[in-house]
Amino acid sequence: MVLFRITPISLIKEGFVNRSDLHLCPERQQMNISLSGKYALICGSTQGIGLAIAKEFSSAGATCVLIARNKEGLEKAVSQLSIAHLQKHQYLVADFTKPSEVKQAIEGFIKNNTIHILVNNTGGPKPGMIADEDEQKFLDTFQQHVICNQVLAKAVIPGMKEARYGRIINIISTSVRIPIQNLGVSNTIRAAVASWSKTLSNEVAESGITVNSILTGYTATARLQSVIEANAAKRGVSTEVIAKEMIDKIPAKRFGDPAEIAAVAAFLASPAASFVNGVSIPVDGGGTGTI
Ligand SMILES: NC(=O)c1ccc[n+]([C@@H]2O[C@H](COP(=O)([O-])OP(=O)(O)OC[C@H]3O[C@@H](n4cnc5c(N)ncnc54)[C@H](OP(=O)(O)O)[C@@H]3O)[C@@H](O)[C@H]2O)c1
Repeated sequence: MVLFRITPISLIKEGFVNRSDLHLCPERQQMNISLSGKYALICGSTQGIGLAIAKEFSSAGATCVLIARNKEGLEKAVSQLSIAHLQKHQYLVADFTKPSEVKQAIEGFIKNNTIHILVNNTGGPKPGMIADEDEQKFLDTFQQHVICNQVLAKAVIPGMKEARYGRIINIISTSVRIPIQNLGVSNTIRAAVASWSKTLSNEVAESGITVNSILTGYTATARLQSVIEANAAKRGVSTEVIAKEMIDKIPAKRFGDPAEIAAVAAFLASPAASFVNGVSIPVDGGGTGTI
């Protein structure tokens, strides 16, 4: 795994990231984690953080099952995964705004398969001030983030119990600790996911299953780009101004690379993390002002 030092402002969105703006850290970091023999279900994995996790897990030997809405994107994502351990990666198409679709997809899959690692992840809600938001957006976001996590966890936990191995990892946000301005609905629902996660961790720990959350800081993906663009439009300033303000608040003075979130997810997914349970870990370059 390579850790990047990212040039402020210029790198935001996959697809128009100029990779020459990424400077490799002088110290190249390698993790020696094995997920060989493990089946990992990774949600929201056609791009961004989910795809980075799938790449990291496959390099560590896991067989990956990807879920998202876009079939072509899923096929492309699967083609980018490591098959060094002769894994046969697969994908399921499902829209997380429709929990019944997610339920149908996972229940069909687990009839013949066991999942050892579940990564709950999906797209974030559109930015907006909470005072202006409609009730329906709260309900939709709750379905997409909390209900789908519940549907997936409920489906895979029996197999995890039988295997005496389970890792549930939720990709959330640092807004669980400190709400982020102009992300009203997101802030509200993220806290619910963190609480769901902690509650579940208490119930399943005895069976060898851990449930942990990653509180993602600003990470260079399409999602971050959309947040920056929304804030720039709201304030009538350029995206560069917004990006610089965000970076200035991060002690590391850069955005994160999705691979850096994936590295923490790989550790949490591994046997080495067996006594790490019920925690929410910020991976944010030190950007969250809490202890
Ligand atoms: N990047 C950041 O700085 C940051 C910071 C804090 C929190 N987060 C949160 O972390 C999560 C991942 O972020 P990201 O930056 O990787 O986001 P991203 O680049 O927007 O990727 C989102 C992924 O989720 C899938 N997805 C979106 N809506 C879906 C739906 N309705 N059903 C199924 N799959 C869906 C997308 O695939 P398809 O379009 O193919 O479905 C895509 O693979 C998001 O919840 C985001 O809000 C990100």
